[in-house]
Amino acid sequence: MLILGIESSCDESAAAVVKDGREVLSNYLHSQIEDHKDWGGVIPEFASRLHYKKINKVIEKTLSDVNLSISDIDAIAVTHGPGLIGSLLVGMNVAKTLAWVHNKPLIPVNHLMGHICANFLDSDIEPPFICLLASGGHTQVVKVNKYNDMEIVGETIDDAAGEAFDKVARLLDLPYPGGPELDKLAQNFNFSESVYKGKYKFPIPKVKELNFSFSGLKTSVLRMKEKLDEAEWEENKAEIAFAFQDCVAQVLKRKIETAIEDTGIKQIIIAGGVAANSRIRKTFNEINIKIVMPSLKYCTDNAAMIGSAGHYKYLSSEDKEIYYNYGFEAFSKLITSSLG
Ligand code: KG4
Ligand code: ZN
Repeated sequence: MLILGIESSCDESAAAVVKDGREVLSNYLHSQIEDHKDWGGVIPEFASRLHYKKINKVIEKTLSDVNLSISDIDAIAVTHGPGLIGSLLVGMNVAKTLAWVHNKPLIPVNHLMGHICANFLDSDIEPPFICLLASGGHTQVVKVNKYNDMEIVGETIDDAAGEAFDKVARLLDLPYPGGPELDKLAQNFNFSESVYKGKYKFPIPKVKELNFSFSGLKTSVLRMKEKLDEAEWEENKAEIAFAFQDCVAQVLKRKIETAIEDTGIKQIIIAGGVAANSRIRKTFNEINIKIVMPSLKYCTDNAAMIGSAGHYKYLSSEDKEIYYNYGFEAFSKLITSSLG
């Protein structure tokens, strides 16, 4: 089964063709990073307009790269949320129109479920597993029982991990997008041990059960910046970035270890933009059970993950006819996945 995935929830206009939920035939995206850079973050209205300009070309290129046309596609999967509303509407309207004109099933996909399914693109892992999902707006521990049965068992009570990366990057005077820039800076600090215990160590936030909090950690970095004299701050930015990054990695690892103990599930995956972080990947590799991580291009937003999630949503649905009904009410009803 060939699925055309379409993703436009934030600052990437993306399309991909995915075969049987696992094999990426084509994957293309247009990033808006350069367009938002001068403002230090994504401007929602501007993002929607850029999606509107680019999305058709992105879809055409994705198909033509592998000599396919829309008639070769079996179904269209599109991100319905969460994300920037104007940006989502562009992708959803293009997908709805294509599906209606070409009489294809239209599968609305939850963006977070897409991130989880990114793990199916370069591995043969199958549920059940525990997922650490960390993106710009969400940090969750998700228990994935089956392809269509996912439960959030822990989440952040304030900032998401990605949000903390972006805010701390700003304190370090790094450009947007902050997370990957902070990761790059931290790599200038040479460190090979498994836990940072140096001079700039940040305290691990204490939060109950499988929940997280990153707001206090971000404030600790701010307080450190206020306390240190300017020269010391400037000279040690790489180590401070590393210490922050290591603290986030330790927090995430501890919660996942607790989730493994609580559930008895013996496989873990990580997903979302923050899963691209080099320190987090290294720290998670030290956990002594089977772990799968998407390759870097499938951690951050892309449409291949949406194609995969669409495949499993469609496959596990008893009534496939519902995907041919593109009216407002019918489409709204379809927007129910285990992750809401
Ligand atoms: O999943 P994603 O691409 O978009 C959302 O759905 O939000 O995640 C974006 C987040 C941003 O906060 C970005 O700074 C962070 O992921 N991120 C990283 C890295 N790459 C992206 N954070 C830390 N290290 C990275 N290498
Ligand atoms: Zn995302």
